[in-house]
Amino acid sequence: EKGGYPHFMLKEIFEQPNSIYDCIRGRIVNNGTEIKLSGITDHPDRFINASRIIIVACGTSWHAALIGARLFESIARIPAQVEYASEFRYSNPIVTPQDIVIAISQSGETADTLAAIKLAKERGAFVYGVCNVVSSSIARETDTGTYIHVGPEIGVASTKAFTGQVTVLTMLALAIGQLRCTISKEKLTEMAHALINLPELIKETLKLNKNIERLSSIFTYAHNFLYLGRGYNYPSALEGALKLKEISYIHAEGYPAAEMKHGPIALIDREMPTVVIAPTDELHEKIISNIQQVKARGGSVIAIVTRGDETIPEIADHTLEIPPVPECLSPIIVSIPLQLLAYHIAVMKGCNVDMPRNLAKSVTVE
Ligand code: F6R
Repeated sequence: EKGGYPHFMLKEIFEQPNSIYDCIRGRIVNNGTEIKLSGITDHPDRFINASRIIIVACGTSWHAALIGARLFESIARIPAQVEYASEFRYSNPIVTPQDIVIAISQSGETADTLAAIKLAKERGAFVYGVCNVVSSSIARETDTGTYIHVGPEIGVASTKAFTGQVTVLTMLALAIGQLRCTISKEKLTEMAHALINLPELIKETLKLNKNIERLSSIFTYAHNFLYLGRGYNYPSALEGALKLKEISYIHAEGYPAAEMKHGPIALIDREMPTVVIAPTDELHEKIISNIQQVKARGGSVIAIVTRGDETIPEIADHTLEIPPVPECLSPIIVSIPLQLLAYHIAVMKGCNVDMPRNLAKSVTVE
């Protein structure tokens, strides 16, 4: 049932070209010029008149939510905020009938997320689900939604569900942008084609596996890791750190790269490796200077860069190259080496990667 892989987690990481294909299938139509999500086309007024989007989720799904909020603001121009479901439900939140509350949950059974949407519904919001498990409690409780359709996820650490969630959130932002005319036809077509191209890019990125396996043996000694990223990849840094701590039991923290000098830089020494997510983008120069700051303090750097970057490989200790991809889709590609790094370090430490201690696949109690 593991399809020849030693663990479900590795199988699920390698399934991502197919799971993303399934996630997109039938949703990009008209020769890649239109996004079609029934949850949106059945309720156009809700999205045209929406004053705000509030996304509620927990854990890895909360990281996908952070990326989603950025997509909604930049593509659909709707103010968006992200809440931990567990905080939202007890905060007496201001929710109005013009608000759209999006719940993201792989299992569709997370107790806090379920309670958050019940509250949002009571207060009149339109509630949209982004789930994997069909007919799960959250899928049933929402007004409508979009399934991520990535197939069953068995490994406790979420991998293909995360990339599926980000893919659906991208399609959602594009579909709302299309409806509200906040995105040009050309830009939409360009993004749709980039989405269609994702499975190929993921396949290519998975070729890093052997390289990452070798690299991982160097880092099993570490007790702490820092993950840095900016913009769309700040949530990637949080997610990379969460993957590592969940399955390898190494303490790891994710930070927006520029925050490093406001505190965490004090921790950096020879014993504390830093993973820097640094694809080529507008703020590339700034992240290069973060790498130099880590190096100047004796820290070792594993950098994730875009193929063709000539600067970072000169200064980082280890470089992992990903193919070029539009900035807002880069978290999907970046998550592949981050998942593989956590996986191999954990396996080399002898950890049970599919069933890490103290964790359950779905958290149905508070
Ligand atoms: C991390 C992980 C958890 C879940 C969280 C929410 O790898 O799997 O952090 O993301 O428990 O679960 P769902 O998405 O099922 O609501």
